[in-house]
Amino acid sequence: MELRHLRYFVAVAEERNFTRAAQRLHIAQPPLSRQIQQLEEELGVQLFERNARPLKLTETGKFFYSHAVHLLAQTSELESMTRRVGNIERSLSVGFVGSTLYGMLPKIIRRFRDENKSVELSLHEMSTMDQIRALKDGRIDVGFGRIRHEDANIRRVILREEKMIVALPIGHPLSTAKPVLSLRDLIHETLIVFPKAPRPSYADQVLSAFQERALTPRRIYEVRELQIALGLVAAGEGISVVPSSVYGLKRDDVSYMELDDPTLTSPIIMSMRAMDESRDIKEMLELIYRLYEEEKIPYVPRTDRGG
Ligand code: BEZ
Repeated sequence: MELRHLRYFVAVAEERNFTRAAQRLHIAQPPLSRQIQQLEEELGVQLFERNARPLKLTETGKFFYSHAVHLLAQTSELESMTRRVGNIERSLSVGFVGSTLYGMLPKIIRRFRDENKSVELSLHEMSTMDQIRALKDGRIDVGFGRIRHEDANIRRVILREEKMIVALPIGHPLSTAKPVLSLRDLIHETLIVFPKAPRPSYADQVLSAFQERALTPRRIYEVRELQIALGLVAAGEGISVVPSSVYGLKRDDVSYMELDDPTLTSPIIMSMRAMDESRDIKEMLELIYRLYEEEKIPYVPRTDRGG
């Protein structure tokens, strides 16, 4: 059995159709069918149910699929790690979700560049889930996101829990009613959440906070990104629950109010390949904690020297 067989099998299992799988693999359908047949003969098992449309995996096929996916992820990790180890010029590709730009990210990047002049740093905006895929296939080396996602090939470090606050149109009655607000105070408003896609996203963290408290906002308005949410708040379309670093984005048509519940937070998570022990990643992590100390920003205690 060769890696090619695993790639072909995974494509067919995921597309549940030989034609689509062949298109995805950029090969013709007859050789694909032959390779799958060969694989079944070699293993002496049936991987797909006969005559089921769309294609369906047998129980053996499901077992083989979960291991094949894992093996392929490890292979691609090995490829990108080896390239990285063998790379004489140092480079670091960083993925980030848009909202981290309002927190410490710009400062971290500036400081990293100052302290590591020989490292070529590149920045790529992408969702947390895209970061996981990009880490696995070597397009980025570090990701900064907000979604807690378990994956055996990815190491995650929860850097800090960022408080959520409320953005209100200037002069909104809630901004003078009380010194701090609760989520219950917001249920008569239109709640503007972001990003609308891809999911899960920060939007789901806000929506879950309401659901967990059995609260339903009057209306939910999903928008593409934070800047649009704030613009709509300024226009009086509704209110939004945003990470507290947005305070830094001063606008004279939006006011911010704290929430009374300290558990209303959104994490900032650094993700990297599980086996990546490279110097640049260690330096990035050390630098982040140093900046937290310097700026007196509360952070999640480190569990080991790697985070
Ligand atoms: C922060 O705001 O703490 C942060 C943002 C991006 C990357 C790392 C940390």
